[in-house]
Amino acid sequence: MKRLDHIAIAVRDLDAAVDTLSRALGLECTHQETVAGEQVRTAFLPVGETHLELLESTHPEGPVGRFVEKRGEGIHHLCFEVEDLDQALARCREQGLTPLGDPRAGARGTRVVFLHPRSAHGVLIELCERSRESRT
Ligand code: CO
Repeated sequence: MKRLDHIAIAVRDLDAAVDTLSRALGLECTHQETVAGEQVRTAFLPVGETHLELLESTHPEGPVGRFVEKRGEGIHHLCFEVEDLDQALARCREQGLTPLGDPRAGARGTRVVFLHPRSAHGVLIELCERSRESRT
């Protein structure tokens, strides 16, 4: 476990949220990317060692679209960067955490897996492993 990589917030309007939060908190958006597999547009705002990740659904039936519809905007998940995703996932499984599908491509060249909030005290947890090239 290396660090808390990001705290993700689901929003209705990505550009508006980037604008408001960057101005209000004095942060800068350094990366934006559409992750087709997750049906989201993402924006990353570094805060010290970690980031805020803002998420806007590109489809009403996507996971973030359904989240916002049901619960409104708000904190969506916490992401921990790990050295070895397969090893970290095996340890989580051993402790009874349930993965949501297999590891797959995330934003910024990472491999990620999500763990079901019902198995993790109500928090959706993402684990990410950076490829050598994407390490900064
Ligand atoms: Co994330």
